[in-house]
Amino acid sequence: MSNASSRARVKELRKLIDHHNYQYHVLDSPEIPDTEYDGLFKELLSIEDSHPELITPGSPTQRVGATPLEEFAKVKHDIPMLSLSNAFSDQEIQDFDRRVRDRVGGASIEYVAEPKMDGVAVSLLYEDGVLIRGATRGDGLTGEDVTHNVRTIGSVPLRLLGAGYPRVLEVRGEVYMTTQGFEALNVRQRQHDRKVFANPRNAAAGSLRQLDPRVTVERPLEIFFHSFGKVDDGELLQTHYDTLMRFRDWGLRVCPETRTAMGWQQCLEYYQDLLNRRGHLDYAVDGVVYKVNAIEQQRELGFISRAPRWAIAHKFPAEEELTKLLDISVQVGRTGTLTPVARLEPVSVGGVTVTNATLHNQDEVERKDVRVGDTVIVRRAGDVIPEIVAVVRSKRPKRTRRFKLPTKCPVCESDVVRREGEAAARCTGGLFCPAQRREAIRHFASRRAMDIEGLGDKLVEQLDEQGLVHDLADLYKLKLEDIAELEHMGRKSAANLIEALEASKDTTLARFLYALGIRDVGETTAQTLATYYGSLAGLMRANRDDLQRVPDVGPVVADNIYTFFREKHNQRVINKLKPVIGRLKQPRPNPTTKLGHTLPLSNKTFVLTGTLTSMSRDKAKAALQALGAKVVGSVSKKTDYVVAGADPGSKATKAMKLGVTTLDEDRFLDLIQDN
Ligand code: IVH
Repeated sequence: MSNASSRARVKELRKLIDHHNYQYHVLDSPEIPDTEYDGLFKELLSIEDSHPELITPGSPTQRVGATPLEEFAKVKHDIPMLSLSNAFSDQEIQDFDRRVRDRVGGASIEYVAEPKMDGVAVSLLYEDGVLIRGATRGDGLTGEDVTHNVRTIGSVPLRLLGAGYPRVLEVRGEVYMTTQGFEALNVRQRQHDRKVFANPRNAAAGSLRQLDPRVTVERPLEIFFHSFGKVDDGELLQTHYDTLMRFRDWGLRVCPETRTAMGWQQCLEYYQDLLNRRGHLDYAVDGVVYKVNAIEQQRELGFISRAPRWAIAHKFPAEEELTKLLDISVQVGRTGTLTPVARLEPVSVGGVTVTNATLHNQDEVERKDVRVGDTVIVRRAGDVIPEIVAVVRSKRPKRTRRFKLPTKCPVCESDVVRREGEAAARCTGGLFCPAQRREAIRHFASRRAMDIEGLGDKLVEQLDEQGLVHDLADLYKLKLEDIAELEHMGRKSAANLIEALEASKDTTLARFLYALGIRDVGETTAQTLATYYGSLAGLMRANRDDLQRVPDVGPVVADNIYTFFREKHNQRVINKLKPVIGRLKQPRPNPTTKLGHTLPLSNKTFVLTGTLTSMSRDKAKAALQALGAKVVGSVSKKTDYVVAGADPGSKATKAMKLGVTTLDEDRFLDLIQDN
């Protein structure tokens, strides 16, 4: 390309990129797919590469500087960055509105209501539309020069769009991290054994205060502009709202929740509405800001000490508070999961007293290094279960101990196991453990299991509460008189239940196995196990290797079955169930299944991907399994075939890479029909 045409194309590309950046970041309505944007960007990079003389600081390729700073330079704010007075009640807002009306007169004042962003305040200086400096608020008078870092934020325009902006324009706003971006960042930080951030604001602040912009560019930062400082050689509009809308035209991102509101009544409506939606916004908001809309009225009102009289922050109830961790207890859930729970010195968070907070699991406790005696930050957001965000390490007393989950269930003393790769530790006493009892009975009685008619949730609850059943086997020892005395029962329904219990004994081994509620043993696996072993005794004798020979049973399921039957409490309950087991219809062991390797597709591993037109994926899976094949979820070198329907996705690509044979739907159908 000639110099002249390169220059022209560079200009054109920059305009296009700025435009699409604006569509994407400011208007939130991209016109082209990301790949096309990337194409434009690459083209610009490549021309600039061969013509370095064309590079300008305003080029979209120049967001990230190459060299880290030694330290931050100081920036003096020509116009101080003020703070806002805070209000915590509706009354305080009415008082604020009255003070405003007293000063400027008039029946009702028009305000602008905006979210109070929980981020980091910054000031950006544009001269002739070009970003020349970015600074933090600091103490309001002097901040730090973070130009190198704000330039890396995709939604910060390096040059303003359109026309009509003042020659010197200092805009102010809030740098923040989206909740999603924050969570993803913490996942990455954890993976690389790096510092995990307590909340999105800390993450945003830490990212902005980096000496190396190559770190900042990797951080998912965003910005909303909400006010302005210095304005020279040009005018802004007559109202705050119109000014913000002009900002938007110039490519400066403004929070889409910004509204005008008449009088304190509409302000409070806005507050309530935003508070209700707080948990659904993808950024942290710690309140609402009301600003008198007319700039002339703002001027009239002026300032008191460090805050304007024309604006006020109406704070949301805090979501985080400090308190003391008194103890860590362990709860056993109804499916056997052990959860460490923090017992806290009662503290009011967001208007609700919190005494407990979940610690999720052992890894989480270790990661946060939470110990009894610690002072902790407790967070309660919306309806979410309160949790411990972090420990205040400086307040840790001497001689504290690390926490470890017990190896025996605190409820029933059965062994606790934690499978490799899983976060949860579980109690293995599924049939016996009182914590899991109700759930076990409910499942046992359910329609597809033992099908005990009339034994619903309410009744299970009562039987448990009255101590009438301690385990599944006790169900069959229930006496008519005992049941009849329960609430909402009576002799008739009690007799019906006894009858239903009797009738339930007439069932198959497969249903009985399913009814035991062994982890990961669903109806299909139960059916396969029943066919393969033919008797409960046979299954109970099997070791892990035997079990893995059963079609559809992998190492994890085999382990679940094995541990379940080894647990002595479970054995005791099964022993008590002998009268039922003795009557089970036991199919003869199926020789073809038993000698699994004689089936046409045994020892072959299949992966299904994409959509099949002739049958559902479950059906296809069942068809393959019936032929002895193993169907697994992900492609590896050990996979024999990948069956690829329409829109197959990454599994097909992976198969190709690994050289695994891929069957299309026709070839797949041939294969099952031939066999
Ligand atoms: S206006 C003179 N609007 O809150 C008024 N500030 O407590 C200047 N903040 O440092 C600020 N969201 O960084 C304004 N919608 C919003 C805001 C907001 C967050 C921050 C701001 C300021 C602090 C004052």
